[in-house]
Amino acid sequence: MDKMDKVVSLCKRKGFIFQSSGIYGGINGCWDFGPLGVELKRNLKNDWWYTFVQLREDMVGLDASIITHPQVWVASGHVENFHDMLVDCKSCKKRFRADQVETERCPECGGEFTEPRAFNSMLRTRLGVSDDTAVETYLRPETCQSIFVDFKEVYSSVRVKLPFGIAQIGKSFRNEVNPRNFIFRSREFEQMEIEYFCREEEEERVFEQWQEAIWQWYVSIGLKAEHMRWYEHPKESLAHYSKRTVDVEYAFPFGWGELQGLANRGTFDLTQHSKHSGKDLRFFDPEKNERLIPTVIEPSAGVDRTLLALLCEAYDEEEVEGETRVVMRFSPRMAPIKAGVFPLVKKGGLAEVARELEGKLRRKFPTVYDDSGAIGRRYRRQDEIGTPYCVCVDFETLENGTVTIRDRDTMEQIRLPMDEVASYIGQRVSIERD
Ligand code: GAP
Repeated sequence: MDKMDKVVSLCKRKGFIFQSSGIYGGINGCWDFGPLGVELKRNLKNDWWYTFVQLREDMVGLDASIITHPQVWVASGHVENFHDMLVDCKSCKKRFRADQVETERCPECGGEFTEPRAFNSMLRTRLGVSDDTAVETYLRPETCQSIFVDFKEVYSSVRVKLPFGIAQIGKSFRNEVNPRNFIFRSREFEQMEIEYFCREEEEERVFEQWQEAIWQWYVSIGLKAEHMRWYEHPKESLAHYSKRTVDVEYAFPFGWGELQGLANRGTFDLTQHSKHSGKDLRFFDPEKNERLIPTVIEPSAGVDRTLLALLCEAYDEEEVEGETRVVMRFSPRMAPIKAGVFPLVKKGGLAEVARELEGKLRRKFPTVYDDSGAIGRRYRRQDEIGTPYCVCVDFETLENGTVTIRDRDTMEQIRLPMDEVASYIGQRVSIERD
């Protein structure tokens, strides 16, 4: 099995990620996050929000609706431009992206292709119950448009001055032709987007600051710098709104793939929405007594792709005492479960003490209690899901109130008084930065 297959298999086996609608044969491009996946995802999103919204005075948040007025997507250029060129095989009827087929004929059956045709990637939906009043609209293909649409509401409700940014995390939908590489390219996924508004003369400096900030954040959540690189989009392949785009790419087992785009969207979106809505979306700068459409620098990250990078980065195997130890080396901040608590044996009152301790720790961070099977097996179970600390209650605990804490990576154990365990682990798993 190659590394990607191992990660996919662990995700299913341990409850990180399942295919959506599995009992009905699955549905292509949609995924369900199981008990551990949902914790990992929450840690990731919370850390992003903490870093880029809570810690910064120049950022505020937004949580806008997924379904919007259809005009939003006319103004944004998506109705006109957000499409892939597709070719169909005339024999087996399979559909391919024209830019991804390298052969003249169908790679599946050798059949002849149709001429390329444009296919819009937005998912359509109908809002309303009666046929004559229902409105046809779209599920958003990116979260950022509502930031532009709500720009005036946001800046006039909070006291902000340029430069400042609005952040949003939420679902986006794209009718991808070929969803693939597990959760890397899905039809339903989540984005973490920032629209950062500045004066045009500051655009290069602001762009560079964001390049630095997003790189550092990836390193801080556990991605190795040597597994990442920048890719600068050539001018001719820029999206319709962009003056410049660079991507952070990660070395996935299947090759380099985009984690996040950083784009200079200029004044494109606010100008478009002003024109189409007839509303003045200029920012009023009281210090300069000036109205202007600010320039937008956009860091746009995928939750699912970052999560996949964390899973690939964490997966490790090593030989320990003649056996293969599978260990997910998540940074403690990202790990879904922070501590496993075990009695050495169930008897002699150890189970009761361990249960009580686990109940106390659970109030501070996610924990599991486990008393089934040999202690070594229990450690291995936690290693496989990336739990950074395991606490063991043994006979010495009954004598002097101390327990052992085992570190997942070094497998070394220390002894601590029971009432110090919560703060020892709490400090190491907290997302707070000094
Ligand atoms: N607002 C700009 C924008 O949406 P994008 O490069 O199309 O730009 C930004 O998307 C990020 O969203 C990507 O870097 C990627 O992480 C994520 N993303 C885009 N399409 C995706 C898909 N089909 N599946 C999973 N993630 C996706």
